[in-house]
Amino acid sequence: MSEAGNSVAGDGEAGVGGAGVGGAAGLADRAAQWRASASRYALLPLRLFLGVTFVYAALDKLSDAHYLAGAADPASFVSQTQAAKGGSPISFLLGAALDAPTLFALAVAFGELAVGLGTLLGLWGRVAALGGAMINLSLWLSISWSVSPYYLGNDLGYLMAWTPLLLAGTPDLSVDGYLARRAGRDRGRGLGEDRVRRRALVDGGIAAVAIGGAGLLTGSLTRTFGRAKHSAPKQSAAPATTPAPSGPAPSVAAASVPVGGSAQVKDPATGDAVYIVQPKAGQYCGLSAVCTHSGCAVDAPKNGQLYCPCHGSRFDAATGAVVNGPAVKPLPKYTVTQAGDKLNLGPLQS
Ligand code: FES
Repeated sequence: MSEAGNSVAGDGEAGVGGAGVGGAAGLADRAAQWRASASRYALLPLRLFLGVTFVYAALDKLSDAHYLAGAADPASFVSQTQAAKGGSPISFLLGAALDAPTLFALAVAFGELAVGLGTLLGLWGRVAALGGAMINLSLWLSISWSVSPYYLGNDLGYLMAWTPLLLAGTPDLSVDGYLARRAGRDRGRGLGEDRVRRRALVDGGIAAVAIGGAGLLTGSLTRTFGRAKHSAPKQSAAPATTPAPSGPAPSVAAASVPVGGSAQVKDPATGDAVYIVQPKAGQYCGLSAVCTHSGCAVDAPKNGQLYCPCHGSRFDAATGAVVNGPAVKPLPKYTVTQAGDKLNLGPLQS
């Protein structure tokens, strides 16, 4: 760029044409620099996403009163693990987790927190990425194992998303980058390789302990205050067996619900989607479209079942009962009454 630019600038006759060539060369130079920066920071959005998501997931678990509840709570770690164990290729590991469920549940939550913080700050980035990949691998082989087709299981996607960070580490805008630059300066000052490595390792360890301590404190506070906050309204909430409708009962034309088919309406009390179904000729009922595992929308009934695309739960289209986990609770069922050619959604049965 400089050579071409200087020769043109020094040539008075080249005039406007020379300035144009110099400007074009400058533009090409800037574009090349921009491309180099874009390549260098290409993994930053992925790193931010994974880091924030893992911190969020950890704090969400620690603040959820259901997470560490016993087997009677379908949203607990124990229930979810028990439900996933049956068809999982790592059932032996899940069995070990069920021997000490509180320990394992806390290890998962604090492991996610450590992975998230390590990834965000770029401290021992490859180790953090390996931890994240291991967590998602175990979730894929358990909770998401029965998802079909496989690409709908989000844990497999997360597992793949860790791969670039595992390969490239976190060399930029990171503690790792700072330590590497300082090690370079130390070498420049003539420090022996052993001392340089020991210094980087010790300082990385100190940073890891400091960040781990901060994470532990944050997690513990989240767990203490989050549990209080989450459990209070749930304890005082009245069982929602007969929600008061806030408008006229939703209805659909009976002709729009063939045997084995469905029509969708909304629960006027909650706004949640409900399928009105006709599993056998003349028998109608309503089934909530909200999966009882983690709240995804289940698909409309097909072949006598409702399928949840998030983790593969299946529910019986006649009763809402769980056919296949990880969900352990049936879909809430509504009464449906027929009035002439209309089907009216009634109250929740259970
Ligand atoms: Fe997990 Fe439905 S199976 S949300």
